[in-house]
Amino acid sequence: MADPPVVRTRGLTKRYRGTDALVGLDLEVAAGEVVGYLGPNGAGKTTTLEMIEGLRRPDGGGVVVDGLPVWPDPNDVKRRIGVQLQATALFDYQRLHEIIYIFGSCYGIHRGRDACVALLERVGLADKAEAFVDELSGGQAQRLSIALALVNDPVVTFLDEPTTGLDPRARRALWDVIGEINRDGTTVVLTTHYMEEAERLCDRVAVMDRGRIMALDVPRALITRLGAEATVRFDLSDRVPAADLCLLDGATDCRAVENGYEVVADDAQRTVVSLLELARTRGLRVAHLDIKGADLEDVFLSMTGRKLSDDEDEANASALKKRRRFGFGGGR
Ligand SMILES: Nc1ncnc2c1ncn2[C@@H]1O[C@H](COP(=O)(O)OP(=O)(O)OP(=O)(O)O)[C@@H](O)[C@H]1O
Ligand SMILES: [Mg+2]
Repeated sequence: MADPPVVRTRGLTKRYRGTDALVGLDLEVAAGEVVGYLGPNGAGKTTTLEMIEGLRRPDGGGVVVDGLPVWPDPNDVKRRIGVQLQATALFDYQRLHEIIYIFGSCYGIHRGRDACVALLERVGLADKAEAFVDELSGGQAQRLSIALALVNDPVVTFLDEPTTGLDPRARRALWDVIGEINRDGTTVVLTTHYMEEAERLCDRVAVMDRGRIMALDVPRALITRLGAEATVRFDLSDRVPAADLCLLDGATDCRAVENGYEVVADDAQRTVVSLLELARTRGLRVAHLDIKGADLEDVFLSMTGRKLSDDEDEANASALKKRRRFGFGGGR
């Protein structure tokens, strides 16, 4: 028989001042998985995570973590899980190994200095054991908050936008850290609005928008189900009605965008040949032609009619604002 899920939510709902923030969320996370909630600002990612973590009370539905109902009394569950909040406040002038000790002692785990350094090692911060929090870069601060989400050797750890606001190099380095934690046996549930992160890190992705899970599956399966192989992007020397481009061979969808056109294709090669033929017969020049393999961005676009990445700069700015407000590093 399969192991029971580590996390199970059933019909989870939340209303804020009469407005639905979450509408009946169902999700099961198996032991050893990395599952991600992918969605734009305000989708309900943090609300969901914090109801599972026992930090926000749901208005309806239930959550079971490691076989225990989280509500009405979340304390037993809190002892067994690791939590990295979207914003973390720590004392600036405490050394990293001291913070690890203090957080561990809250769970009754009194680590010696070497054991504290060993935990910092897991997130690549062993050489900063004597440093003050104040001295950390944004990426290092995020690593520390992940280490703190591991102090009690949790069965599952929850990471709320672990890489938002980091530069691409720091983000990739953190993916390695999270992958490593998972390989060590910790189940990981995270939120993100980076589709690349979801694709690279997650065994399964719940695509969220406006308080609903629009789709939940292995990233490749979500993309394959679209029936689109690629998006062909280009500009033309003169405008043509976008509808004409939908008639290209292999095209399944098409749209005019700011810098030209995008044609979604289930056979990009045929589409490009057909495009060049159309350009020749109409005396047009094709410019800036490129082919982008289908990704989760396309999944989000097809489900919501909006681009997830439009939200990215705004999300970065808002994440940094939240972190700074709570006095915790972020991109320095
Ligand atoms: N404490 C609160 N009181 C009132 N409304 C709230 C509260 N917390 C969240 N909301 C609203 O609920 C919705 C979901 O918010 P939530 O923070 O869960 O989204 P999110 O997906 O985590 O967004 P982000 O990517 O910005 O972190 C938003 O419309 C938000 O304004
Ligand atoms: Mg959030």
